[in-house]
Amino acid sequence: MQLYSVSQLLKQENKLPEVEVKGWVRTFRANRFIALNDGSTLNNIQCVVDFESTDEALLKRITTGAALHIKGELVESQGKGQNVEILVSAIEVLGDSDPEEYPIQPKKHSFEFLRENAHLRTRTNTFSAVMRLRSTLSYAIHKYFNDNGFYYMHTPIITGSDAEGAGEMFKVTKLDAKNPPLDDNGNVDYSKDFFGKETNLTVSGQLEAETYAMSLGKVYTFGPTFRAENSNTSRHLSEFWMIEPEVAFMDLPGNMDLAEDFLKYVLNYILENNRDDLDFLEQRLINEEKTKPQAERSNMSLIEKLKFVIDNNFKRVSYTEAIDILRNSKPNKKKKFKFPISDWGADLQSEHERFLVEKHFKCPVILFDYPANIKAFYMRLNEDGKTVRAMDILFPGIGEMVGGSQREERLEVLKEKMAALDIPEEELWWYLDLRKYGTAVHSGFGLGFERLVMFVTGMTNIRDVIPYPRTPQNAEF
Ligand code: 4AD
Ligand code: MG
Repeated sequence: MQLYSVSQLLKQENKLPEVEVKGWVRTFRANRFIALNDGSTLNNIQCVVDFESTDEALLKRITTGAALHIKGELVESQGKGQNVEILVSAIEVLGDSDPEEYPIQPKKHSFEFLRENAHLRTRTNTFSAVMRLRSTLSYAIHKYFNDNGFYYMHTPIITGSDAEGAGEMFKVTKLDAKNPPLDDNGNVDYSKDFFGKETNLTVSGQLEAETYAMSLGKVYTFGPTFRAENSNTSRHLSEFWMIEPEVAFMDLPGNMDLAEDFLKYVLNYILENNRDDLDFLEQRLINEEKTKPQAERSNMSLIEKLKFVIDNNFKRVSYTEAIDILRNSKPNKKKKFKFPISDWGADLQSEHERFLVEKHFKCPVILFDYPANIKAFYMRLNEDGKTVRAMDILFPGIGEMVGGSQREERLEVLKEKMAALDIPEEELWWYLDLRKYGTAVHSGFGLGFERLVMFVTGMTNIRDVIPYPRTPQNAEF
């Protein structure tokens, strides 16, 4: 006998006299029909039990959630809903599951409830589909960069520098919190700490990726990043995964082209390689939409949204143009924005980004050339002396998906910028070295992986697209 996955069995064209499969019971109907799932596909294999010849005590142990080893014959199905089924010849219960206590009952559970049971939520169709799509997306990302001559670089997780300069980092320390060593001024003396200096979890691998771009040419990172910002929103995590390509000799328009081509490629890969899960999630959303008032319903299905992004050019708009549009917009004039737009220089809030993407342009938008003082220190200053070559890519329903820029490659300009922001040169001496020895135009961006997974799956809370979300006040599992 041969062990098959459910996915393999469902693809069989011919009868097979002897098959084996292992999985978990989703449902057991009429003491006869077991729907068995092993995670290899959204679909279950139906296993038909001959209850007359099966021991009653054994039948009682076939409960939702139990792990089974089944042997039997794969035949064309007599019933509707599946092409093949197994006529069971032997069942072994590998692991019992108490039907009274098992949290994942065969009924609809709220996402909040499933978040509290995140260790079991991938036993549901929705979460198994989301996590399979997450896995495929991650593969597609590596494939894109590999096929396009990029090297995968592992940037450090523990770092002594603050790439984004926002100061929202998690400290990494071995010092005794109750009794840390102090210096002469009464400050904590980090020279006595494990690394002999102050260290944190990284917020971005960009600065290190720049060093490799300036030797290997085209590199990317794909790793966890950490932010200690206290934003409890449906789009923020304290630990999230970021993809960061960095390319030597590439300018900002080249960076936009790369980001757009990359996003279209991975979305298309998903459409071509994970259709079952996508179709399921699309249907889930259609059903959910039906419960909403007409005015709030989306005019595109999930798959239509993906195709729309693949088939249409992203709209490229400068910050200055965007401010004009926002200033003259209805919600601004009617004082509907929580943060009204009056002057050039204002930072854009998510309500503004959503207006631009969802109401005004109705497609993904690349905003570029932002005011220097609302962006990070490393961005290339434009000739106007007040804007930088930054770009943010905004997606409908998500807001900011990508943040990137052309980097400041001129040593003196970079030093001035760092001085103005009180960033000590000693901390980033190696970063400055890149501008001393063979400096060149270079660019890159960061894509928030979970935001991409949200867009692809149609899930509306970022906590539902990562296995174990870390958010303020929450690090269970
Ligand atoms: O815009 P950010 O902060 O850019 C950087 O970190 C640059 N160093 C990237 C680069 O140029 N190499 O973050 C990049 C993206 C955002 O556009 C967003 O999609 C995501 O990371 N992101 C988050 N995702 C989930 N939770 C959070 N708290 C996030 N913060 C940023
Ligand atoms: Mg950003």
